[in-house]
Amino acid sequence: MKITTTLSSLFILIMFFGCSEMDKSYQEPLPDIVTYDSQIKAILDQSCVRCHHGGPELQSSLNLSSFNEIEQLIGTVFIDLGNSNSYLLITAGPEGKMYMYLNDYRDYELLEQWIVIDSAAEH
Ligand code: HEC
Repeated sequence: MKITTTLSSLFILIMFFGCSEMDKSYQEPLPDIVTYDSQIKAILDQSCVRCHHGGPELQSSLNLSSFNEIEQLIGTVFIDLGNSNSYLLITAGPEGKMYMYLNDYRDYELLEQWIVIDSAAEH
């Protein structure tokens, strides 16, 4: 009986901390301004650049490895400022085939805010 109670308490504790850990990213409000330097570089470096660095081996010439490269995409279908249907957002969005490389939905939200609201600014 005692062991069962201890085990149940442990289980509840683990559930509690496990869940609060998971929910954190969704509860955190989005920043007022998203820039390449402050949020986007880290996301792209972690999730995209190992493939999209302009190397010849990939079936895509899309290069996301620096702001200089990304600047070339601004004003094209990839990064159409103010447009949530920018091709980069569609492919990295929940319905897109690159979404699985992001950490979570919040990464997508940051990318979206950067392109749609914050003019894909560097700083
Ligand atoms: C494991 C390698 C890999 C990773 C990681 C990866 N991609 Fe891709 N991506 C590809 C390949 C290969 C293609 C081209 C073939 C295709 O469309 O499936 C592609 C195509 C694309 C395209 C379509 C444009 C084109 O040139 O075909 C976009 C936009 C894109 N990726 C964005 C991203 C973003 C944003 C990330 C990070 C969240 C990412 N990718 C992560 C391999 C990758």
